[in-house]
Formats: sequence, structure tokens, C-alpha cells
Amino acid sequence: MTSILFATSEARPLIKTGGLADVSGALPAALREIGVDCRILLPGYRKVMDALPDLHEVARFHELPYFGNVRLLEGRIPVSETPVYVIDSPWHYLREGGPYQDALGKDFPDNAWRFGLLSYLAARLASPDSPLDWRPDLLHGNDWQTGLAPAYLHYAGHRTPCVMTIHNLAHQGIFPPEMVEELGLPPESFDISGVEYYGNLSFLKAGLYFADWITTVSPSYAEEIQHAHLGMGMQGLLTDRRDHLTGILNGIDTTDWNPAGDPHLNCKYSSRATPGKKGCKQALQAEMGLIADTDAPLFGVVSRLADQKGLDWVLQVSGGILDRGGQLVVLGTGEKTIETALRNLAHNHPGRVAAFIGYDESLSHRIEAGIDIFLMPSRFEPCGLNQMYSLRYGSVPIVHATGGLKDTVEDGVTGFVYREPNSHGLWVAIERALALFAQKPAWRKMMLAGMKQDFSWEKSAREYAALYDRLLT
Ligand code: ADP
Ligand code: GLC
Repeated sequence: MTSILFATSEARPLIKTGGLADVSGALPAALREIGVDCRILLPGYRKVMDALPDLHEVARFHELPYFGNVRLLEGRIPVSETPVYVIDSPWHYLREGGPYQDALGKDFPDNAWRFGLLSYLAARLASPDSPLDWRPDLLHGNDWQTGLAPAYLHYAGHRTPCVMTIHNLAHQGIFPPEMVEELGLPPESFDISGVEYYGNLSFLKAGLYFADWITTVSPSYAEEIQHAHLGMGMQGLLTDRRDHLTGILNGIDTTDWNPAGDPHLNCKYSSRATPGKKGCKQALQAEMGLIADTDAPLFGVVSRLADQKGLDWVLQVSGGILDRGGQLVVLGTGEKTIETALRNLAHNHPGRVAAFIGYDESLSHRIEAGIDIFLMPSRFEPCGLNQMYSLRYGSVPIVHATGGLKDTVEDGVTGFVYREPNSHGLWVAIERALALFAQKPAWRKMMLAGMKQDFSWEKSAREYAALYDRLLT
């Protein structure tokens, strides 16, 4: 049986800031279903420690160079039962705030050590120096937070194969050059053929350089990142490595996201029995203080409020949506300027626009179910999950033709895909959607086409398993 150590900085349901957590919660479980012994390695943040009462110690590292005393605990993720190794280092992880930032949204100043430790232990557990009986055949790292792991393995002379998955190239883990030695990497590693990136240390560059294979989370994004426009400075390296780079589309958790059995909804529905969706719309309008009107096209957004997500374009078209009798509901948290603009919009249009600034998983389900049209105008989107949740919930997505959005939504069939990267492009797509919304049978046909798509994890898990097999033979 192939064994994989899946190193990640977040995993649902323990700790989540975005899609990486959904993937880390679901992919290892899907791999286990098809016979791969996949186990997770995760930092012991407070939320993780609190959510896993049955953790027990499996190893202890004394006076670890650069990182101090650390314990390794083992437990199982609730429900999926995926085994998880948790790094118990209170000094690094047991603090208030999120996984990367303090409560005020400022990056922790010691993130290089915090994720250097995650990378270091990932490499250690994948090497012959591991204190565990269980040894993975392959190390699978995710994003910059685990990027140094392949470098640690390389400089220790170990040859365990590594896969690095890029979930978002915008975050590169860049730190000053002094950190190379502080983190126990040899001075010669600070080189273009190593961890150096434009005069600094980059965790992500290290991972992309030393991994045996690079994956990213959609075929289109795998292509886009090889060019300057979306390569974020890594396009040269990624082009050089294009024969070792593939895009594997994310799946979605079809148990969590199932309108026929969703515990967050009062009215259930499915592609065979859709009337419940109208009840969800009424309930959402009531909950969000919107005017009760099931004929009004109800638009929705659930998103991190970051520049990537194109919420400025939504703000620009919001007047047009209201002029055409539409309503808008937004759930999100992030950059303060976007939060304020959304709050103001809702304040100026009571009963027509509702903005919930915060993070609320249950509400995100009720929005996906209650709306008619989901807006996802991301400037770039490695994969994106919400457009897939929308399809499954019969909420027609309008998306920008980028990355995973264009790989999952079929223009004119399951949703609307527009090319022009600005608010005009978005508005033209909204007008097309409103025209179709007025023709009930055609609208229903599009809803049903989306609801019948299969985005379950099994297909993606099989692609990862096939990749592991190729690298191990
Ligand atoms: P990203 O990882 O770039 O944020 P994805 O679409 O891959 O984008 O994943 C975002 C995930 O986070 C989805 O599961 C989405 O439902 C969830 N999400 C984002 N913002 C919120 C919020 N404010 N409340 C609840 N869930 C949210
Ligand atoms: C990132 C990307 C998003 C992707 C998620 C999971 O956060 O921004 O597009 O769906 O990772 O892979």
C-alpha cells in the first residue's frame, strides 16, 4: 500500500482560512478510500489542539537545532478518521489569531520559523531519520508553508520523492536572506539553483525547485502560471519545469455540500425535486433582511475579501443589478476597504443589499442554496470551490474565464463565463443571465445541467494516486 505524508498548514474541520483547508480535509480522506495510506501533518494551533481531544505523543525532539523542544502527537480527524500528526510546539503555534496572522490581521513576525518547523518535520518524517515506525513513500507538500521540506530533504541527502501542490502562487513565503542559516539550510543553498529568489529566501521557490513533481489545482492554472501575467515572477522556473507540472482539478465534498441532506437548510431539494430551493430563497431573504420577493433575481457572493476575488467589479455593477430589480447578498471577510465598501452599499440599499462581514460556514450554505445567481469575478483563480458548490446547489454561476473557473463552468450550458477582465465584462455576463432568468424553462434547464455535474473527489484522488505511482516506479 502506498503511504503518503500530506503536509499542510490548514485542514477542515480543524482550522480553515480558505480552500486549502477544504482540500486538505477531503483529499487525504478520498485517497484513503481508494487504498492510499495518506496521513496529514499539521501545526498544533490552539484550535487544532482543542478539536482533537484524543491526541497522544508519538515522538519527542529535544533541542532541535533552530526550533527547540517539540513533541509530535497523533490523532484522527473527526468523521473522516484520517490520521493526523500534530506538531506540539506552544512557543510557535499556541497563540491568539489565525494560522498566519494575529487578531488584527498582521502577519506573525516569526512565520519563517513557524512554517520552517512544519517543513523541517515534514522532511524529517519522510527521511530515514524519522523516529516513527511509519515511513511515507512520498511527501506531498502544499503551498509555501511546506515549501522548504523538499530543500531540507535534498540538503540532508535523502531521496524520498516529493510532490508540491500550488494552491495559490500569490503567496510565496519570502523572507530576508539571513533566514537561510537561521533555518538550518546550508549557505550554498542560497543560490538561483536553490532557495534564493530575487535576493531573498522564498519557501515556495524552494519547493518548486526541489520537488520531483509540481501540481496545481486546475489544468488551466497550470498553463497560466507559465506566463508573466499570472506567473507572479515564478513563470521562468515553472516553464523550465513544465514537463514536471500538471493541473489536477480539485473536487468538492459532496456529503457536506448536498442540498438534499444539508443540515444547514430547512428546505431540502435536489435535481429531481427542486421546489425546496424556493423555500431556501424565502428563508434567506427573511434572514438577511431582504424584501420578500421570490421573483427578484437574487445574486450572491461568498468570498475572502481580497484583491484576487474582484469584489471591486461587483461593487461597480451593483447599481445595474439594483436598477434591474435584483437583490444582492454578500458574505465575506478580509481587506478593510472592501469590507467598508460593502457595508456602505448595504446601508444605502436596505432590503435590496445585505452584507454579512465575517466568517460563517452555516450561512455560506444557506446563501448557496437561497440565491439564483452566484458571482465569482476573480482576477485569477487557481481552482475555486464556490462556483462548484453553486453548480451543485442550482445557483447559476457567473465567472471570469480564468483558472479553475473556466475549467468547471461551461458558458451558456451550466453558467456564464466572460473574458473581458473588468466590470464591463462582468456586466455583459449579468445581462445575459438576466435575459435567461426571465425565460423560466431555459433557466431551469441551466440549473439542472449544473446540478447534475459530478465534482466528487474520487476522480481527483485517482489522478493523484496515479501520479504517486508514476513517481514511485
Ligand atoms: P480561496 O481558497 O482562494 O479563498 P476557494 O473558492 O478555493 O477560494 O475556497 C474558499 C472556501 O472558503 C470555500 O469553502 C468558501 O465557502 C469558504 N469561505 C470563504 N469566505 C467565507 C466566509 N466569509 N464565510 C464562510 N465561508 C467562507
Ligand atoms: C487557493 C486558491 C483557490 C483554490 C484553493 C484550494 O486558496 O485561491 O482557487 O480553490 O486554494 O486549492
